Amino acid sequence: MELLVVATDGSEGSARAIDHAADFANRHGAALHLVNVIADYGLPSDLVQGLADSRNAWLEERLEQTSAEILRAGRDRALAAGSGPVVIESLHGDPAGAILAYARDKKASAVVIAKRGDGPIERLLLGSVATKLVSLADTVVVVVP
Ligand SMILES: Nc1ncnc2c1ncn2[C@@H]1O[C@H](COP(=O)(O)OP(=O)(O)OP(=O)(O)O)[C@@H](O)[C@H]1O
Ligand SMILES: [Mg+2]
Repeated sequence: MELLVVATDGSEGSARAIDHAADFANRHGAALHLVNVIADYGLPSDLVQGLADSRNAWLEERLEQTSAEILRAGRDRALAAGSGPVVIESLHGDPAGAILAYARDKKASAVVIAKRGDGPIERLLLGSVATKLVSLADTVVVVVP
């Protein structure tokens, strides 16, 4: 069975990516995996490790909760757009790298993302995650406008 990975940061752009992926999965009988990455946001790795070590439970819990909410809303959206069952997964680390590693691991046929996400900056081009993902990808990437 074909497998599509769709990446969401909870943004409007991501919602369009989910709609597209759900419609495609429905028409092609493909499985849909929806992923969200809890990003390290460029923090030095020893600081990230320190945060984890000191078990900053409040922060970790909030990040996990937010990611889970984004994924549940995305799954509801995909189901409403006609997809079959949707697997949801929170990942950690660098968003582009984590999404691509997941897609590689699952032998996905394609990764679906949006041009832009929840970043604050109006851009002419792709967002930074989209740019990095397209640049590093060894799989097909569908970029939804
Ligand atoms: N943390 C994330 N988890 C999952 N998917 C993501 C994540 N961040 C971005 N994406 C995917 O990449 C798309 C483009 O987002 P991107 O972050 O590149 O743009 P932006 O937020 O507008 O810009 P920037 O983050 O550079 O300020 C999103 O719509 C989503 O499909
Ligand atoms: Mg972003």
